[in-house]
Amino acid sequence: MRTGIIELEADHPGFNDPDYRQRRDEIARQALDHQSGQVPPQIEYTESENRTWQQVYEGLTSLYPTHACREYNEVFDNIGFSPDRIPQLAEIDDYLKSKTGFRIQPVAGLVESRDFLASLSRRIFPSTAYIRHHSTPHYTPEPDVCHELLGHVPMLAIPEYADLMQKIGEGSLGASDEQIVQFGRLYWYTIEFGVIRQDRELRAYGAGLLSSPGELAHAVQEKPDIRRFDPDEARQTENPITTYQPILYEVCSIREAFYLVAAFIERIKQGL
Ligand SMILES: [Fe+2]
Repeated sequence: MRTGIIELEADHPGFNDPDYRQRRDEIARQALDHQSGQVPPQIEYTESENRTWQQVYEGLTSLYPTHACREYNEVFDNIGFSPDRIPQLAEIDDYLKSKTGFRIQPVAGLVESRDFLASLSRRIFPSTAYIRHHSTPHYTPEPDVCHELLGHVPMLAIPEYADLMQKIGEGSLGASDEQIVQFGRLYWYTIEFGVIRQDRELRAYGAGLLSSPGELAHAVQEKPDIRRFDPDEARQTENPITTYQPILYEVCSIREAFYLVAAFIERIKQGL
């Protein structure tokens, strides 16, 4: 795992806000002090941080019934999230452990791809705990607690998705640098931006969509080029990170995504 505080880029909404930067670094430092396997640290979120969470929560939850996949909505109804306060990573760690065996590892920010993917192979999900800047509740240029908790966590409670996540991680073990880039794209086009057709309607299962109201609506309205998921194509398809995705890959079930990825990894391991 990466070991330092990651400096904000100049275009981050909090770049010119010293209080925000100090707070983000303080929460990141707690993650750096965390030992693997320990319970994630409790964070006393401020009123302002809880208010930002509430704005994000309300913007997204109004879309979920018609935009998120069925599995996500089933979990969301039972997970016990509330608009009033940011859930603690320790609670999430407990919850996921009981559902799929996934554990939460607090991290200070984006983790190098190779390390990130290797964690997934051990059913460990690296998660940030700080929140985006209050001036842009519907946008963040980096993962934050809203992206992790509203985008990833409900899906991580679903066995098929947990298996898919782990399978991509396993595939990356021992991979060349070039293959790591390609596994990063497979992760991107499934775990972050995957879409699924249910009762003939497109729904999101990817966390990047499920945590961005604008891109979620854009995706479900089928504005991007929607293609059948083909791991061999997806691994070669470059993924923009600062604009909406022009291409999304569709599956008919999360299990299908798992089998396609598993077969793809099998072919790579055999050098085909
Ligand atoms: Fe993510």
